[in-house]
Amino acid sequence: MKRIEFPKGFLWGTATSAHQVEGNNRHNDWWEWEKSRNGDRSGEACAHYDLFEEDFTLAQSLHTNAHRLSIEWSRIEPEKDRWDEREIEHYRRAIDSLRSKGIEPIVTLHHFTNPLWIARSGGWESGETAVQFADFAGKVASEFAGAARWWVTINEPMVFIDAGYRRGHWPPQVEDDARATKVMRCLIRGHRMAYKAIHEATAARHGREVSVGVAKNFLYFVPCRPRCLKDRWAAWLRHFQYNRLFLSAIAGGVHGCEALVGGKGLPLKKALDFIGLNYYIKDFVCGERLDLPWGTALAGRVCTWEHRQHIDGRERNSLGWLISPEGIGHALHTLKGYGLPILITENGICTTDDSQRERFIKEHLFHVAKAIQDGVNVVGYTYWSLLDNFEWHEGFEPRFGLVEVDYATQKRTPRPSAAMYAQICRDNAFVYDGT
Ligand code: FCB
Repeated sequence: MKRIEFPKGFLWGTATSAHQVEGNNRHNDWWEWEKSRNGDRSGEACAHYDLFEEDFTLAQSLHTNAHRLSIEWSRIEPEKDRWDEREIEHYRRAIDSLRSKGIEPIVTLHHFTNPLWIARSGGWESGETAVQFADFAGKVASEFAGAARWWVTINEPMVFIDAGYRRGHWPPQVEDDARATKVMRCLIRGHRMAYKAIHEATAARHGREVSVGVAKNFLYFVPCRPRCLKDRWAAWLRHFQYNRLFLSAIAGGVHGCEALVGGKGLPLKKALDFIGLNYYIKDFVCGERLDLPWGTALAGRVCTWEHRQHIDGRERNSLGWLISPEGIGHALHTLKGYGLPILITENGICTTDDSQRERFIKEHLFHVAKAIQDGVNVVGYTYWSLLDNFEWHEGFEPRFGLVEVDYATQKRTPRPSAAMYAQICRDNAFVYDGT
């Protein structure tokens, strides 16, 4: 039994995103896409748009001092250059509600969804989208930067690219490497322009310091056959391409990344104040296709080699994602190299066995604390998610919440893991009985 302690002032929180909890986000591309497929539609979701006060009171009862939320672009700007003042007021009330409860808002501007007018004018394949996004970011920052210190421009750019443009199971359902690469360039540009716009708007309007970052999803890639050189090389390439390339292109000073994504004109200046880390899974990689052209080799491939061997005896969440607490330590040590503060913007588990959630949280926090002891500058942790919610194409089945949602009645019921997490948040420490 060990007592694990966290630094003074550590941010303890929960995370959500607009489309997954609010309900009725009718003006975005997901809403449109959901109409055309079999499966759950976001619909009312958790009705958080109306129930945010109750939900934030719950977050307060968990002794959290931070909460990550996203602002739905399609609500604020339902048509090009038309700002909806009522929606701006809505988010002002939400952010003020958090602050009045002693909870620091962490504001995300792009969490997978796009306004329909953006999707219809080429989405993130159009160079114009970066400009529009920066406009939106500047507008929101000029409204709220006085009340929010932490800003996330884009959530999980690689997931957005992979699911929407490479594997094609999210809107706009494209499967094309060249188009995916173009989207990556536009997202890098969009982040850079939004970074600048947020800082400029804040300085002009509020004269206060803000921290602007991205939420970078990190996969813990391991070679299928630890002694096989091809597999090790493939795992390293996947790590570089998936975990590092985007960050390196915005963190400044890392030459060469622009060439890899084909964006010669991309500036090298630093456009990042902190790194948001989203961490969930470990992934096996094998290198059998390494002799194919560069693009494919760079992508590597997820292992099907003796798949059973990887499945047997390993813990998974209810979506089958492979759990590996030491992976969060690996991610933190990798990110340390960028020399920036790290905020864990997502980490969590979907499960119907709440004791698995308790174990998951403690095991991951153990590795976070270890990394902090090793000198990694981790400033906070926000558990995904406060509430059960709409898990994109997987619908409402996966249960990620500390708080259970009954979708028929919108009744909230905190799970035992919520009480456990509340105690950690309150004590800034916990007793760990693992190894
Ligand atoms: C992340 C997303 C988040 C949620 C969790 C489970 O990839 O950022 O919206 O879906 O996974």
